[in-house]
Amino acid sequence: MAGMGDIHGFNAMDARSPLSLPRTVALVGLMGAGKSAIGKRLAMRLGLPFVDADDEIERAAGCSIAEIFEKYGEADFRAGERRVISRLLDEPPHVLSTGGGAYIDPETRTLMRAKAVTVWLRAELDVLFDRVRKRAHRPLLRNGDPKEVLARLMTQRYPIYAEADVVVDSTAQPADRTTEQVIEALRARLQAEKTPA
Ligand code: S3P
Repeated sequence: MAGMGDIHGFNAMDARSPLSLPRTVALVGLMGAGKSAIGKRLAMRLGLPFVDADDEIERAAGCSIAEIFEKYGEADFRAGERRVISRLLDEPPHVLSTGGGAYIDPETRTLMRAKAVTVWLRAELDVLFDRVRKRAHRPLLRNGDPKEVLARLMTQRYPIYAEADVVVDSTAQPADRTTEQVIEALRARLQAEKTPA
């Protein structure tokens, strides 16, 4: 019926129409923010491949991230991360989960901002800590008290993550619900990009 979709500028059909992504969606945020969990769900919902940058770095290096930190140090890890993310950003659109420090590296951040829609999954300290404390594979959390490390990284990194195109709160609610919020935030962002200022 004519006019039913548009009520006072709000397009009632929007929420149901499929979202088509013109470029890669890159998820950023601290360890435990849910980048992989939400990323996998998001990829399913959007019908796009899911790629985990940390897995790709491990594949390229032939060893684990913990081993890269141990053998070569953080600076070499960041250089490898930069190269791998740069390559992934030249691939067709997909959902890309990036390690917590990737967006903090100025060069990687510039690339991500140029070639992807960036989504910061913002989470509070207790949510992050609850998610990371069960696993011991993250080298940065082995240097001291993990909760203190996370709190320090929040102070350093949150102002930088805040430059992302889209910000969504990652809470203790079910991951499917957060994924839904990411989709709606992306829809609003892509719509705004199409609308001339
Ligand atoms: C890091 C986060 C890790 C991994 C590496 C460094 C960081 O990824 O890239 O251990 O600097 O925050 P996740 O955020 O996926 O845990």
